[in-house]
Amino acid sequence: MFNSPDKQNIHKNNDGIHRIFFALWPDDVTRNQIVESFNELPIDKKQGRIVSFDNLHITLHFIGNVNQQKMDCLHSAAQTVNADSFNLELDHYGYFNKPKVLWMGLKQTPQALEALHNTLGAALAECEFEFELRPYAPHMTLMRKLPKPEAFEKTKPIGWQVNEFVLVESLSIEGGVRYEVRERYALN
Ligand code: 2AM
Repeated sequence: MFNSPDKQNIHKNNDGIHRIFFALWPDDVTRNQIVESFNELPIDKKQGRIVSFDNLHITLHFIGNVNQQKMDCLHSAAQTVNADSFNLELDHYGYFNKPKVLWMGLKQTPQALEALHNTLGAALAECEFEFELRPYAPHMTLMRKLPKPEAFEKTKPIGWQVNEFVLVESLSIEGGVRYEVRERYALN
């Protein structure tokens, strides 16, 4: 059982406002493999900000700041999602020019991930969550503010069996953010 039986498990912060998002959260083995691959990348890592090991994830839906009532609604909606588990092959490094983000992702988005994204988005709409209209571009941010590096060497694919998705809270800490998993939702 991943889902908590009641909503009291959702931690409350001081002002009752939570900055949250839904995500895929790598297990420790996968997380280590990602970091090993990243460490081998021939780029100057001192030129940008490296995302901390514990924060690595792929966002499914970014929500933003919500009060407790809205968070409860989104959690209940996420519990209704009926979607299949799937395997991801992290086989690609990419770069977003505008935010200067280096990311790891997939040459092709598996249909099951697209389906999970859509099913979850439809469920969250019950809480007046507005679906992003841009096509879904799953990615795991590894570095921010990195000047565009030279072309990357081909990466060795990392297999990741995805059996759940999670609700994450973003907490401001000195010098950055810490992401904490608040809820887990099992896939079939
Ligand atoms: P990023 O990694 O590309 O920055 C938590 O902030 C997560 O939600 C990050 O993975 C971030 O993507 C994603 N996200 C998507 N839209 C966002 C937004 N408008 N503001 C902040 N984060 C957003």
